[in-house]
Amino acid sequence: MNSKKNTIKHSFLPYGCQSINEDDIAAVVAALRSDWLTTGPLVGEFEKAVADFCGVRYGVAVSSGTAALHAAMAAIGIGLNDEVIIPAMTFAATANAVVYQGGQPVFADVEADTLLIDPVSVEALISKRTKAIVAVDYAGQPCDYPALRAIAEKYGLWLVADACHSLGAEYGGKKVGTLADCTVFSFHPVKHITTGEGGMVVTDNPELAEAMRRFRNHGISTDHRQREASGTWQYEMVELGYNYRITDFQCALGVSQLSRLPTFIDSRRRIASHYSEAFSPSSAILPLAIHSEAASAWHLYVVRLLGNISREAAFRQLRERGIGVNVHYLPVYLHPFYQRRFATRLGLCPVAEAAYATILSLPIWPGMTEEQVHRVCETLALVVSEQVTSPQQDVSGARLVKP
Ligand SMILES: Cc1ncc(COP(=O)(O)O)c(C=O)c1O
Repeated sequence: MNSKKNTIKHSFLPYGCQSINEDDIAAVVAALRSDWLTTGPLVGEFEKAVADFCGVRYGVAVSSGTAALHAAMAAIGIGLNDEVIIPAMTFAATANAVVYQGGQPVFADVEADTLLIDPVSVEALISKRTKAIVAVDYAGQPCDYPALRAIAEKYGLWLVADACHSLGAEYGGKKVGTLADCTVFSFHPVKHITTGEGGMVVTDNPELAEAMRRFRNHGISTDHRQREASGTWQYEMVELGYNYRITDFQCALGVSQLSRLPTFIDSRRRIASHYSEAFSPSSAILPLAIHSEAASAWHLYVVRLLGNISREAAFRQLRERGIGVNVHYLPVYLHPFYQRRFATRLGLCPVAEAAYATILSLPIWPGMTEEQVHRVCETLALVVSEQVTSPQQDVSGARLVKP
C-alpha cells in the first residue's frame, strides 16, 4: 500500500519517485530504537536478503552505488593506467570509479536499438592494458552477457555489471547478479528500492567480497562488531580503504523495500507496456528495443524522437505542461572533465551521440496511476503533433527514422 504522501497528487510528474509505506517507516523507527545506528546486524541482514534475491553467495553493502562501483574496481585490482571498457551511454559514476583508481575508462559505443554496450565495439577496443569490462544495464535491460562473458574469457578480463538500473531484471532466465563476476546496485530514491543513499555489490567470489568489506571500512581487516565479539581493541589497516559504510537504519529500510520489490517491478512493467502500446502507431516516437532474452526491470522508459521532432523543444514543452521528462545521458566522454583529462572528443561513439540528441526519459515509478500514465502519453502525442505542424529549430542535429 502506498503511504498518503506517495499517492502522488503531483501536478508535476517527476521521471522517478520512491514509494515509502508505513511498514518501511516502522522498520526504520525500530532500527533507530535499537542499539545500532551504523554497522549493526541489519547490514548483514540486508546483504543476505539482496544476495538471496539474486541467487548469489555474497552481498557487500556500502553508502552509494558509486561507492559500490569504486569498491568493485578496487577489488578486481584496477590500478594506475589500467584500461576498463565501459559504454559511452551511462552515468558519470561508472567512469569515475575507474578514474578514482588511477585507471583509464575506454568508451565503447552502444547498439542503436537498445543503447546497451555493443560487444563488437568492446572487442575492437581491447588492448594489452585492458583489465575489465563494465557493462551497464541501461534503463533496466540487461546487456548481452553471454557475448560479453565470451569476450571476457577469451582475453582474461573481469566482467563487472553496473546494474544500478536493473535490480530484478533477467537475461535468458538468469537473474541480474549472476551474470558477471560482480554486480553493482544503487539504492538512490529513483531506483527500484531505496535506502536514501546506498549501494551494494553482489558476487559469488569470496576473495572479492572480503576485499570489498575491507575497502568500505578504511582497509581495516575487522569491523567493530567483530572486535567486540572477540574482546579485543586491536585492529590492522592492511590496505588503503575508505569510509563507505552504510547505516543500520538505512539497511532496515532496504530490507523492508526489498520485500516490496516484486510489486514495484510489476508496476514498472505495467506502465512500460502501457507506454509501448500507446506509442506503437507513432512514426515519431520510438521506444527502446527489448532483446528477446531480456526481462527488463524498467528503471527508465526512454523514447527517441524521430524525423523533424526537436528533443530540446519537446523537453521544454513537456516540462512546461508538468511532465518531468529527463535526458539519460550525455555520452560520458563529452563531459568537460573527460574531454580535458583524456582528450576525448565528439565523434568517438557515433551511435551514442546520435541517440543522445533524440532521447527523452518519461516518468515511470511504482506509484504512478493509470491516469498519470495516460496524461504523459497524451501530452507527448500533443507536443509531437504541434511540432509536426510548426517545426522547431533543433540544435542537436542527429536524426533517426523508425525502422
Ligand atoms: C548507471 C549508474 N551507475 C552508477 C550510479 C551511481 O549510483 P549512486 O547514485 O547510488 O551513487 C548511477 C546512479 O544514478 C547510475 O545510474
